[in-house]
Amino acid sequence: MNRRPRRNRKNEAIRSQIRETHLGVDNLIYPIFLVDGKGVKNEVHSLPNNFRWSLDMLLPELEECMKLGIYHYDFFPAMPDEVKDKMATVSADPEKNFYLEALQTIKETFPEIVVMTDVAMDPYSIDGHDGIVRDGKIINDETLEVLGEMAVAQARAGADIIGPSDMMDGRVEYIREALDTAGYSDVSIMSYTAKYASAFYGPFRDALDSAPREAADIPKDKKTYQMDPANKREAILEAELDYLEGADYLMVKPALHYLDVIQTLREHANIPIAAYHVSGECAMLTAACRNGWLTYEKAMPETLLSIRRAGADSILTYFAKDYAQMVREGKL
Ligand code: PBG
Repeated sequence: MNRRPRRNRKNEAIRSQIRETHLGVDNLIYPIFLVDGKGVKNEVHSLPNNFRWSLDMLLPELEECMKLGIYHYDFFPAMPDEVKDKMATVSADPEKNFYLEALQTIKETFPEIVVMTDVAMDPYSIDGHDGIVRDGKIINDETLEVLGEMAVAQARAGADIIGPSDMMDGRVEYIREALDTAGYSDVSIMSYTAKYASAFYGPFRDALDSAPREAADIPKDKKTYQMDPANKREAILEAELDYLEGADYLMVKPALHYLDVIQTLREHANIPIAAYHVSGECAMLTAACRNGWLTYEKAMPETLLSIRRAGADSILTYFAKDYAQMVREGKL
């Protein structure tokens, strides 16, 4: 036998010398849920070990995460029902939207961190949709105006990267122009390029209480704007459009069930590819580990590594802190 692949696996020193993929804490983006108020650290039932934080409680937590080397965060607001309406009016109102104020404080307190924000109507929409709902339909072009104002308000509050997660047509171009006109040409756009109508967003919708409202004239799912899980060529079309419209990063979401899409976009695009390892994917693994069926410290890093191996430059994951902790403890 001339070819014995096992020779290259004979000990850890050799294995680490020829390892093809590395995942550092720098590659991770940590999603965080914010709520109004003081002294709140409220665990998301379906996403154990993740919390809705009030700003005062979050600041020391961010400091702890930074000590572990986490400098990239994506913040999401859990808005009370009273401020929601059909047009997501509160989303761009710095007087009434605690999220904008919180972003500003976070950025002022920790100027060295990269603040990413989410642009979509669902946290603010009484209908629980990412766009304006009228006569049972999601109205694309009017939604763009809401998204543009939301993006500019977030940029004004200090966002470094805007993440449009709404899947309306033409929104990257619209937001790019709105940001540039308002003087924010330095603010980046990480577009949710191939965001699928997935069953794996459940815990996130629990966290924000943002699921579509049940009513006869409200679409019960997001299938007219989020992509069909069966489609891959369409992801390439979305990627081409987002690139031409000015996106700085392309994102695939969810991650694990769409590793082939990550790989395909990696091959087609010359800008960074991000993958969102979504709430349901994390919940699934956590549940198996809590049941004693899998070992967290082995299954979690293997999971994140697989997303990186498929071609993601950045990974948004609720496991960011645990991963960073393992790196710090020399376990990875
Ligand atoms: C909403 C949004 C969603 C997620 C991020 N932004 C949910 C949805 O589209 O319903 C999901 C993230 C996750 O599940 O972790 N625009």
